[in-house]
Amino acid sequence: MWDNIPNNVDLDNDKKLQKALMKWLPNYLEWWNEMGPSDFAADKIYLRTAISVEKGGWAHFDYVKMPEYRWGIFLTPPHKGVEKKIGFGDYMGQDTWDTVPGEFRHDLRRMIVTQADTEPASVEQQRVLGHTAPSLYDLRNLFQVNVEEGRHLWAMVYLLHRFFGRDGREEAEELLERRSGDSDTPRILEAFNKPTQDWLAFYCFAMFMDRDGKFQLGSLAESAFEPLARTTTFMLTEEAHHLFVGESGLSRVIRRTTELMKTAPDEDVTKVGGIPFEIIQKYINEWFSASIDLFGSEDSSNAANYFGHSLKGRWHETRDKDITDHVALEGHYNLPVWENGRLSNREVPMRRAMNAVLLNEYHQDCERACKRWNKICAEVGFEFKIPSLKFNRNQGVYASDNFDLEGNNVTEAQFDAIMSKHTPSEKEYAYVQSLMQPVFEHGRSQTG
Ligand SMILES: [Fe+2]
Ligand SMILES: [Fe+2]
Repeated sequence: MWDNIPNNVDLDNDKKLQKALMKWLPNYLEWWNEMGPSDFAADKIYLRTAISVEKGGWAHFDYVKMPEYRWGIFLTPPHKGVEKKIGFGDYMGQDTWDTVPGEFRHDLRRMIVTQADTEPASVEQQRVLGHTAPSLYDLRNLFQVNVEEGRHLWAMVYLLHRFFGRDGREEAEELLERRSGDSDTPRILEAFNKPTQDWLAFYCFAMFMDRDGKFQLGSLAESAFEPLARTTTFMLTEEAHHLFVGESGLSRVIRRTTELMKTAPDEDVTKVGGIPFEIIQKYINEWFSASIDLFGSEDSSNAANYFGHSLKGRWHETRDKDITDHVALEGHYNLPVWENGRLSNREVPMRRAMNAVLLNEYHQDCERACKRWNKICAEVGFEFKIPSLKFNRNQGVYASDNFDLEGNNVTEAQFDAIMSKHTPSEKEYAYVQSLMQPVFEHGRSQTG
């Protein structure tokens, strides 16, 4: 049976890992059948499967039924002949770790479980979307994302099984027991409990949530714990496609609305079944603000510990030539905060500001995508905006105050008014939902 699990972790000879997986695998399949894509289980889908770490091995295409997908376990191989050294934090310059140091066991487990929990959560959030796919192209993309999120769960469960003994096995089971949006056993992070009921929400999800994933994985790829660094590096290759699905999905909707604007009576695209720019902007406001809560507080002792203990680095910590101080014990990060009724500047010690640093990278990435969208709709005079990092926060230093889309402090009443005006209303959700007519014919799509 192990032949069916592509891997480069010597699963054939690892009896302990086999034993752990033997118990977990049937439960995983049960979870997939219950919470994975609803229906389509008997259909053969043209899917990419990672079958080796050789060049191109991560992208093997074939027709497979999703429940028979070969979820594999892969670690990006270390560069031949290069002794891997820790690139940042207190242990910088020392050899990387092949096992979990006892003193960091708790923190590493928590980091791995938090990442792992997002993988099945997103599959659950997206499970009914197949029924309303706007084209076969979109349907295939959705399922590709779904099976790869399943594989990402495997990647994290491998770490739990292989390095965390009984605790790890228990955590691996719990990952299959929590459910997105369940009031008793919700997923760990709030944004992964949000319903994703229509395709505009799905594109926003893949644009913003998967992009958060990219930056989290990238910072874990710097970890001194080598198996974590190598497995997240491999996951990043798959993640790139998820981001593409999100950003290009939004581009296509924006392009279609731009076209419809030119012919729709009174420039009202709802009269011809289009999605007005204003509604798209509201979705962006909602999903972007939910995604930035995933980064944790901008001023965080956990972040300082993770960095100090060489567990989690910055984005491209060891590749970005602009990062010269990898110890980060000196210097500070200027964080604008709202204190005592006015905006002031908090000098956050660098290590404590690592979440803010990562969030900034993410924010810039989102801004770049927004610029590309704006090139599409410029001809009809619309401009999308990514909201301020202060807007609509439930985590971090801005969570206790109210801010508008530009980041100005406002009263609670003003904030409530902004929310109802600038995030989707029930009526708008219902309108978008009404457009979700599936198109399953070859060569056709709902956008024409
Ligand atoms: Fe993932
Ligand atoms: Fe993803």
